[in-house]
Formats: sequence, structure tokens, C-alpha cells
Amino acid sequence: MSSYVVRKTPGDLSWFTHDRFGMFIHWGLYSMPARHEWVKTNECIPEEKYQKYFQYFNPDLFDAREWAKQAKAAGMKYAVLTTKHHEGFCLFDSQYTDYKSTNTPIGRDLVREYVDAFRAEGLHIGFYYSLIDWHHPEFPIDHLHPRRNDPDAYEQSKNRDMHKYAEYMRNQVTELLTNYGKIDVLWFDFSYEHDPSFPDWMKGKGKEEWEAEQLIATARTLQPHIIIDNRTQIEQDLWTPEQYQPTEWIRHQETGELVPWEACQTFSGSWGYYRDEMTWKSPEMLIQMLINTVSVGGNLLMNVGPTSRGYFDSRAQDALKVYGNWMHYNSRSIYGCTMAEPDLLKNCPNGCKFTQSEDGKRLYVHLFEYPFQTLTLKNMAGKVDYAQFLHDGSELLMDERIRTNASGEEEQNLLITLPVVKPNVIVPVIELFLK
Ligand code: GLC
Repeated sequence: MSSYVVRKTPGDLSWFTHDRFGMFIHWGLYSMPARHEWVKTNECIPEEKYQKYFQYFNPDLFDAREWAKQAKAAGMKYAVLTTKHHEGFCLFDSQYTDYKSTNTPIGRDLVREYVDAFRAEGLHIGFYYSLIDWHHPEFPIDHLHPRRNDPDAYEQSKNRDMHKYAEYMRNQVTELLTNYGKIDVLWFDFSYEHDPSFPDWMKGKGKEEWEAEQLIATARTLQPHIIIDNRTQIEQDLWTPEQYQPTEWIRHQETGELVPWEACQTFSGSWGYYRDEMTWKSPEMLIQMLINTVSVGGNLLMNVGPTSRGYFDSRAQDALKVYGNWMHYNSRSIYGCTMAEPDLLKNCPNGCKFTQSEDGKRLYVHLFEYPFQTLTLKNMAGKVDYAQFLHDGSELLMDERIRTNASGEEEQNLLITLPVVKPNVIVPVIELFLK
């Protein structure tokens, strides 16, 4: 068994830390302007103008089963869909708002279709729910809000009642956790401080404003096992580093304990569909991000931003296929794996990343830089029973070498003989069966 002790949290993480890889889906009206999910506030778009998207939202090519199949084929084991993003538009048939997909030309509860389809493929189901709401009439204007620069912003905002908005959130979370069966993840987004370059009354928002304690209690009463993130500002199950690659297991700020964490990342530089954004990550980066994450004990939630017609565009499909092709042969080094034990990890060769199965029996060496013919594993002599490439199960011959290194210490090394030419795998993996 892995010797790492992870901080205990209220939700059920048993499946989560095994599965390691999920699909984030950012979908809403913003897929129509197709220039970032923050477009409404980035461009300070007035309500009347943004209403056009609501009026014409019609994802006629949306087929949730197709999404679910692609997620599964990519090796993803769970998904988290934006049931409502910051723009306030709901993809579900809420009785607390008219601003929902059932009132647009598509006329359907898209959350329902997502849940049914992903569940049918055996994937765990997650809901993203935005704490921020740039449409709700009771949500006070702050420095992130599209109306922040209006000359009469104060007049517009002064009678808004945050309590009413907090109650609206509890009502909607109740709907989401009552009407769609068992939900595995609830992903709230997000809290922020005041920006001093804006007037004092445009306060930031955090746990007090969200009435986060009640919000979480509501969720836990309905689905006690559910995994909740920490972005309400109340610590729950999940630490969520965003758009960067942690190089160490995330630790608790006060106690220093290891915590459960999930990195969220995008294929290109936006969460929502962004037609003209061109910084799509290379296949090598995509695979390496997944390995890097698991090699330091985390999960990867990889985002897709579907088009407004409801499908994954070809760039997203290609990226998913990169994962699918690699995972088909190499998923054993991801599922049920975690950070390698410290005594092994300290000898991880340059250009390689380790993961280790939870039961400790297998060590996976990911070759980010393909070595020339021989890979030396320092102080691993006598520890490995059998070695093979993971992708094709072909034996790799081993040799033990004892030598004195430059500092005069004795090393008991294991040499693995590799083919000179790198196999046709983005990141080849060596599977070591430990003694
Ligand atoms: C951010 C953004 C948002 C995105 C989220 C995903 O906080 O506000 O658009 O949904 O990150 O982690």
C-alpha cells in the first residue's frame, strides 16, 4: 500500500483518486460569441445585447451520447459540466429562473441529457455551479461585473439583496441535487477579494456573501458522499490548482498534510469555445500534463468547450484522440496510481516521471526524454522482478551494476536496455514489477 497519508475530508474520494482523469465541460451562451466565457464582462456587454444569444441559442447538433462516448474513449472516468457559468444562464430546467435552456429555441434540459448519457457510459457525474452571476438582478455589482463601468452602477446596485441571491443558489443546488439522481462532484466557482482600484462598495465576495456554510450544508444533506471543491472559501474535499502544473503534491496551508487535489487545464487558452484562439497544446504537452499530475498525487480535469451547435470542434476531438490513443495502451500507469514512494522517487532519472500503483507493486517510468539505448535506475538493483514496455508488453532486458559514483558512494544500479529507436508512442512507459 502507498505510504502517503492524505488529509481526511467529508466526501467520498475512493473512486476519484483511483480514476485520476476527468472531462471538464464549459458550455453556455458564450459559445455563440465564441470569444471566451468571460466575454460578457470582458466587453461589458449590455443585457439587451447579450439577450441575442439567449434568443438564438439552438445547439441542434448536440448529442450528449456522442460527448460521453468521446470522453470515455479518451480514458476519462468522470465529467464536470457547467450547469450555470458566470453569465448566469442555466442549462437545466430550474423553477427559480426563466434564464434557462428550456426557454431558448433548443427547448431542452441539457443537464438531464448530459447526466443520462454520461451515466450510461459508466462515468461519474459532476456539476459545476458558478457562485458568480452576471445576470441575476439581486447579484450586487462588483469589480468583475459587466456593469462595473456604468456611470449609474451604484444606483443599479444599491438595492440588490445578496441574501436573496444566496437563497437562489441554495434553491438551485437543491434542484440539481434532487432531480438528477446521484451526483458525485459539486464544483463551485469562485471567491475573490476586493480590487482597491474600484470603489469600496464594490466589495469582493466570499463565504459570507455566498452564505457558504448553508449552501454546503444543503448539498451535504441531499448527497452526503458528494465531493465539493474549496472555492466557496470553506474547505471541503478538493484543492483545485488552475492552469498551472504543480510540481509537488499540494499540502494543507496550516497543517502541512497532503490533500486531495485536482488540476484543471484547457486544450487552448480558454474554457468556453473560442474560435480564434490558437494556442492549442501539443500532443506531447497533453500527455505529459496527465502524467505530471498523477506523478505528484493529483487528478487532471481536462476541459472541452463545445461549439454553440453542440459538438466538440475538430481541434478538441483531435486532442481527445491523443489521450484516447495513449490511454488505450498506457492507462495502467494512470488509474489506481499515485506518487512513487520517497525512496524510489529520489532516484528518478532526469527526463523521466514515476508513478506507482497504490498497492506499491508496480513502478511506472515515463520516458519524457527518450534515452539512448540504456536507462540507468540508480539504486534499483535487486528490486525489480521483471520489466517491460507497457504499450506492447515486450520484455526489457535488465542488468545490475555496482559502481562508485563521483562522491565516493556505492550505487547499486539497474540498467535497462531499450531499443535505440523510440517506439511510436508519445510518451513510452516502462512497467517494472517490483519484488
Ligand atoms: C476560473 C474562471 C472560469 C473557469 C474556471 C475553471 O475561475 O472564472 O471561467 O470556469 O476558472 O477552473
